[in-house]
Amino acid sequence: MVLKNRTIQRQSCFYGMSALDGAKKIFGGKIMKFFIDTANVDDIRKANDMGVICGVTTNPSLIAKEGRDFKEVIKEITSIVDGPISGEVKATTTKAEDMIAEAREIAAIHPNMVVKIPMTVEGLKAVHQLSLEGIKTNVTLIFSANQALLAARAGASYVSPFLGRLDDISEPGIDLVRSIAEMFSVAGITTEIIAASIRNPIHVTDCALAGADIATVPYKVIEQMVHHPLTDIGIEKFVKDYTAVFGNK
Ligand code: E4P
Repeated sequence: MVLKNRTIQRQSCFYGMSALDGAKKIFGGKIMKFFIDTANVDDIRKANDMGVICGVTTNPSLIAKEGRDFKEVIKEITSIVDGPISGEVKATTTKAEDMIAEAREIAAIHPNMVVKIPMTVEGLKAVHQLSLEGIKTNVTLIFSANQALLAARAGASYVSPFLGRLDDISEPGIDLVRSIAEMFSVAGITTEIIAASIRNPIHVTDCALAGADIATVPYKVIEQMVHHPLTDIGIEKFVKDYTAVFGNK
């Protein structure tokens, strides 16, 4: 019940409600949104063409994997997807004042930019200042509900709990997403939860059920979600039955 109320505030890719969101509100439903978790523009284009994503997240590892200039790749991403695009401050930047200076540059790339800031004391200081300046932030590397609460209170627009990395050390990552969703709901916090470090389609289903606002998903997992062996068999059978009677007409 509590979750339902919270849900109503958060349907759009941006803040505020669209007409579709209004309709969902009437029916009391919530549809978790998808971002794509990559800096590969070919994968971003493919997912965007499917119409399933409404935002992009990157991180220093994903940027390094592409081997391209940060600003150049981020600009190209903003030209493909019309939604929140997370670009992270440099992995080597640790002081709040340096994060703030970099964040201002990242935010200036495009109005859809969201600045990803690591969950540290200096990071929280930066998030607080940036929120005062109206710059959206996504606090990353969240591994506890308290970290999420602190980030939200500092003024983060988004928090990114890392599911897969918790699973990797035998801690159920989905429990973290559920705790944050419940905590935000109880406290009436409007910071959006981006479930990150998603490794498989089961993670996606679990996140939707746990109350995540968004799941940021690698392209490979989006493809895995599309496919089902019975769908493939069904398509083959339709082709066989149809062509047996009508040929290739
Ligand atoms: C996205 O915001 C995160 O940086 C990303 O999902 C981390 O995923 P990984 O744990 O698979 O590297």
